[in-house]
Amino acid sequence: MNQLRSVKGMHDVLPEETPRWHFLEDTFRHLVGLYGYREIRTPVLEPLELFVRGIGEATDIVEKEMYAFEDKGGDRLALRPEGTASVIRAFIQHGLHAQEPVSKLYYIGPMFRRERPAKGRFRQFYQAGAELIGAAEPAADAEIIDMATRFLKALGIADVSVQLSSLGDRESRMAYRGALVEFLEKRREELCGDCLRRLEVNPLRVLDCKIEACKAVASGAPSVMDYLSGDAARHFADLRGALERFGTPYEVAPRMVRGLDYYTRTIFEIQGRSEALGAQATLVGGGRYDGLVSELGGPPTPTIGFAFGIERLLMMLGKSAAPAPGRPVFVAGVGDGGVGRAHDIARSLRAAGCRTEVAYGTASLKSQLKRADRIGALGVVIAGEDEAARGCVTWRDMRDGAQIELPLSEIVARVEAMR
Ligand code: HAM
Repeated sequence: MNQLRSVKGMHDVLPEETPRWHFLEDTFRHLVGLYGYREIRTPVLEPLELFVRGIGEATDIVEKEMYAFEDKGGDRLALRPEGTASVIRAFIQHGLHAQEPVSKLYYIGPMFRRERPAKGRFRQFYQAGAELIGAAEPAADAEIIDMATRFLKALGIADVSVQLSSLGDRESRMAYRGALVEFLEKRREELCGDCLRRLEVNPLRVLDCKIEACKAVASGAPSVMDYLSGDAARHFADLRGALERFGTPYEVAPRMVRGLDYYTRTIFEIQGRSEALGAQATLVGGGRYDGLVSELGGPPTPTIGFAFGIERLLMMLGKSAAPAPGRPVFVAGVGDGGVGRAHDIARSLRAAGCRTEVAYGTASLKSQLKRADRIGALGVVIAGEDEAARGCVTWRDMRDGAQIELPLSEIVARVEAMR
């Protein structure tokens, strides 16, 4: 029979890898906790409409990459391709804006995009992100960017660069849109069919086309940063000032394009360099999206956030990042009723907080000791029949093989002393 395999671009995370995931997630939870962020969990399936309205109809994510389908009841659903739109949907649905003036929410979970799988690019990937809802000032943007860089530093990823830009507000974009369309119209013949359509629907998306000829056109296009309104320019200047005060290095990237339509004003990406990921990879993406809450039916609310791909960061970390779990104790069973006795002892050791492995099935003492060695046990408790009758066990120190007889009650103290 055919062996079934996981879907292309979707991967199992095996037990030997999960400690590194836990390490990364714990580091993230701890850091955002220092800033007052609380976790939100939203469903993996959402109404398709949420992403069409939230991310934008003419984006690659919505047009080409989303897993969208009609369910058996005829509802049009999509597997979430990112977390922000869902968080804002939940924020509005549960009236969180009425509870406190500023909401700080973080999330960790799988996202789905039907992209071409490549190094660090998957069809199911895990994202963690943080959204600061209700703060408009440039200092909030600086705080978010600083928090993202401090997180990378806490993981030990230091060789990164923060790319910063501004898309301006509605006024800036109206002015820019005119200039961009004028520029693109002159080079119409060089654009792909998709871009000709984008030119009509959403000309900014032409700048995000992956086709070489379109990229060449885009590289000469005017930058939105030359069209910032007075307000937007001041916001950007204040943000730069705040980052400089924090000592957070950044580079201004006037041609940065983000793949989602909801951004206004500040956008940023954090790039990392690693062999595992290719020369340059985007680790973190984020920005301000002041129009999204009202677009999705909530009150006008300034918002900024970021997200990163967990797999990408783990590829940057290398193999040894996670602290190894403590070494266990192994309980071997010998003689009549040995297995049952071993389980009884293991149970009481675990109740005392001791990480304990136990023999399953019947095997010779020799092979049980071999197994204890293979799993890196600190020591082995050998529970024979006559010792058990005296309330004792044999303790074998796996460092030197020395054996002594001990009351069972002393095992935990002995293990503690060895750590
Ligand atoms: P994004 O730039 O589309 O932004 O994704 C953020 C990060 O998710 C990327 O920098 C990358 O690390 C990871 N990522 C994206 N696609 C893939 C993939 N196919 N495979 C592996 N990793 C991937 C957002 O999603 C926004 N929601 C970020 C945001 C939050 N903006 C404001 N708040």
